[in-house]
Amino acid sequence: MRINPSKKIKGSITTPPDKSISHRSLIMTGIAKSRSIIKNILESDDIKSSLNAMQKLGASISGDFDQMTIIPFNHPNSAQLNCGNSGTTARLLSGVVSSYEGTYEFLGDESLSARPMKRVSEPLSKMGSQFFWESKEGFLPFTIMGGNLNGINYENEKRSAQVKSALLLAGLRAEGTTTVHEKTKTRDHTERLLSQMGADITIEDGKIELRASEIGGLEMTIPGDFSSAGFFIALAACHDHATIEIKNCSTNPSRTGLFEILRKMGADISLSNEHNDLEPFGDITVKSSRLKGIQVPDYLIPNMIDELPLVALLGCHATGKTTVRNASELRVKESDRIAILCEQFKNLGISITEFEDGFEIEGPQMIRGGIAESHHDHRMAMLAGVCGALSQEGVYVNNHECCSVSFPSFFETLKTITF
Ligand code: S3P
Repeated sequence: MRINPSKKIKGSITTPPDKSISHRSLIMTGIAKSRSIIKNILESDDIKSSLNAMQKLGASISGDFDQMTIIPFNHPNSAQLNCGNSGTTARLLSGVVSSYEGTYEFLGDESLSARPMKRVSEPLSKMGSQFFWESKEGFLPFTIMGGNLNGINYENEKRSAQVKSALLLAGLRAEGTTTVHEKTKTRDHTERLLSQMGADITIEDGKIELRASEIGGLEMTIPGDFSSAGFFIALAACHDHATIEIKNCSTNPSRTGLFEILRKMGADISLSNEHNDLEPFGDITVKSSRLKGIQVPDYLIPNMIDELPLVALLGCHATGKTTVRNASELRVKESDRIAILCEQFKNLGISITEFEDGFEIEGPQMIRGGIAESHHDHRMAMLAGVCGALSQEGVYVNNHECCSVSFPSFFETLKTITF
């Protein structure tokens, strides 16, 4: 896919529905005690992995992605669950099936099979679940034999919302209380849904306590994904002639660290039509901005983990140094995002310094253009696309199709706003 340099960025768009909420809405309504209706579910490869897995476990799901009706299972079938590329499916469902008696086999694609699973298997084993590794300890494929769990007290050291969610979902059927402590807050969609669905949960600063609960059905409409919007927000802020509006986008504060960073960098970004629903959303407007470099504060790292590669792009256009540290989690995403970011930038003529746990970039720098390899990571393909629109000579994105994991129409949307 070739992306040409653009003279102007203009338009009003709606990004696809939020991926994290879409996963949770399917998984959590599948284990509820009554029927649910969910509107505006993301239609992407990752969500299809969760949807197929829930069907295999016995949930009955009808309708289409605009509106689905979910009839939960009483007890899941023993099943083989193919999680594809989706870490959220593998980790959250590990928590769910750990709480049921049965045999559940998990597998995934090459990328997912190289991602660490001990972060969920260790605490879930402490709760009483059994993991059997099929090829390499700590990695997919594995089989879980679940049932008879006890609640545990757990410190979320990895600062992972997936780990927190896996333990809370397991805790719904565990004896006693399941407590997760967080020194830094991670995305809170699971807790919001648990509260809404009637779970016995208390949430204090840095501590989530859940007691065994049957959760009720849910009716909700999922807002647009802030992480998908991030690509267009960064593009508009970096471009000299840009005004873009993103409508109905999630503004959940546990996800919008990029917003805060942009404000600190001096970006012209504003929020309107805010709705304070179960999941808040609103319209975001971004215009061409004069940016200044920044050190991303540690407390914001988990809040904007998927947007950190975009901070490198902002840093490339900002005056001064932009630094990201304490972000080694980026190395265990769908790809090693620190290594791929630095490789892509170097190939496009941008100088960047790589650290074990982050990167530093000094701006402003021009993006010459060239060839960028996505390494089959959706977010790296989309980053390369945005670089193309900002470049002098254009960018060829290799293996761009992987954007289907979270944002299948990304390149078409990009074309509608670049002139
Ligand atoms: C997600 C949490 C994050 C994020 C991923 C989605 C979720 O992962 O990177 O894209 O939906 O809970 P970690 O919680 O492992 O950091």
